[in-house]
Amino acid sequence: MKLLHLDSAITGDNSISRKLSASIVAHLTAANPGLTITYRDLAAAPIDHLTLSMMPTPGASTATLDEFLDTDIVVIGAPMYNFTVPTQLKAWIDRILVAGKTFRYGEAGPTGLAGDKRVIIAVTRGGLYGADTPAAGAEHLETYLSTVFGFIGVVPEFIIAEGMLLGPVQLEAAIAHAHQKVSEIFV
Ligand SMILES: Cc1cc2nc3c(=O)[nH]c(=O)nc-3n(C[C@H](O)[C@H](O)[C@H](O)COP(=O)(O)O)c2cc1C
Repeated sequence: MKLLHLDSAITGDNSISRKLSASIVAHLTAANPGLTITYRDLAAAPIDHLTLSMMPTPGASTATLDEFLDTDIVVIGAPMYNFTVPTQLKAWIDRILVAGKTFRYGEAGPTGLAGDKRVIIAVTRGGLYGADTPAAGAEHLETYLSTVFGFIGVVPEFIIAEGMLLGPVQLEAAIAHAHQKVSEIFV
């Protein structure tokens, strides 16, 4: 089995999403020592923004797309930047949503073609965006990633640490809660 581990935070060693994604991968590896891991740091080695000349023709492949198609599990560190994904992660997404490869359109609408994969996403957010909060409508990270992966046939699993900028008490509690979730879920 193959696991693709992606990080997209620009905050280096201080990144919480990087620590969470690493913890998820460590738990999955401990439970399944035969996993082959590929790691991509999308901040350190960014993928170019999609341009017309790079637009894949329907059914065509790129190295980024082939790597995604070839993996069984994807673990993504996804911090909220300006209410949505970091631009580095968006550039990766732009390479994997390809007609004829990960989705197709038919008379009944779109069909996802990547439903054989498991996608696990470590989300970090500075504020609080739960359904009962005033900022719920500004949440375009978790909702966006649900749409993206749902479109290609995958229901992503989320580990969420939020309120990172609301002071040390909330910060520590949210990180501890997220790590606890990781150890409960990925045994
Ligand atoms: C460039 C930038 C933009 C951010 N934008 C938001 C935002 O729109 N909403 C929010 O709640 N937090 C925002 N934050 C806070 C981060 O989501 C939070 O600090 C999170 O922990 C970052 O993940 P990391 O620890 O992996 O770097 C932003 C942080 C940065 C660096």
